[in-house]
Amino acid sequence: MRVLVTSDYRTLSEEAAELIARAVRTRPGLTLGLPTGNTPLGMYQELVRKHLHEGLDFSRVRAFNLDEYLGLARDHPQSYHSYMRARLFDQVNLQRENTDIPDGTPGIDADAECDRYENAIRDAGGIDLLIVGIGANGHIAFNEPGSSFDSRTRVVLLAPGTIADARKYFAREGEVPRSAITIGIRTILDARRILLLASGRKKAEAVERTLRDPVSESLPASALQLHPDVIAILDEAARGH
Ligand code: GLP
Repeated sequence: MRVLVTSDYRTLSEEAAELIARAVRTRPGLTLGLPTGNTPLGMYQELVRKHLHEGLDFSRVRAFNLDEYLGLARDHPQSYHSYMRARLFDQVNLQRENTDIPDGTPGIDADAECDRYENAIRDAGGIDLLIVGIGANGHIAFNEPGSSFDSRTRVVLLAPGTIADARKYFAREGEVPRSAITIGIRTILDARRILLLASGRKKAEAVERTLRDPVSESLPASALQLHPDVIAILDEAARGH
């Protein structure tokens, strides 16, 4: 894993966006794997700026999101569908038919949706560049500790700490989803290149363990050590400085 430590969150966001922009310019029809959460917000802002002011062209880019809550309508303000529309899709020239996010609509046949999603990624030729954040417990996408490294897109129960972290985004306790659809660890490792982003002191322990601990299913992010082309961009706080 190559590690780049930036002085602050803004620089982390700029470096991440520049890496993506270079990949898109080199291969305009590439397939991205896209994360949600707070960490990539600055990166998306910078990608939008590059689109508006530097002509960065997404017209041939394909994009698959990593995960989605199960049991939220697509237009729920906290759904990852809503997040992606607001942060990226409505602000750049990505073609809507070139974007895909697992569908967590209440009542959906979730297992069938997982199969559809995994097949859609495969049919697109796989993910060229996958960007991923990290949970404080070392989860990647919604692969919680204990996830098999052979896992593919599936329904998962969220860990208590992950539910607690999500609580602030929902008006009522009862509204916070308890489960999600996530691409698997194997789906992540199948990507040709992976960009790991981590910002802030709350991530420092998970980052340290991801870089140093033996590879173990009890720490999902440690699977990234098994991939030949991972770049981790960390700000100093996440690196523990
Ligand atoms: C959620 C998402 C993950 C994300 C994580 C960290 O669990 N499913 O993909 O990496 O949150 O989020 P944040 O960047 O807000 O700390």
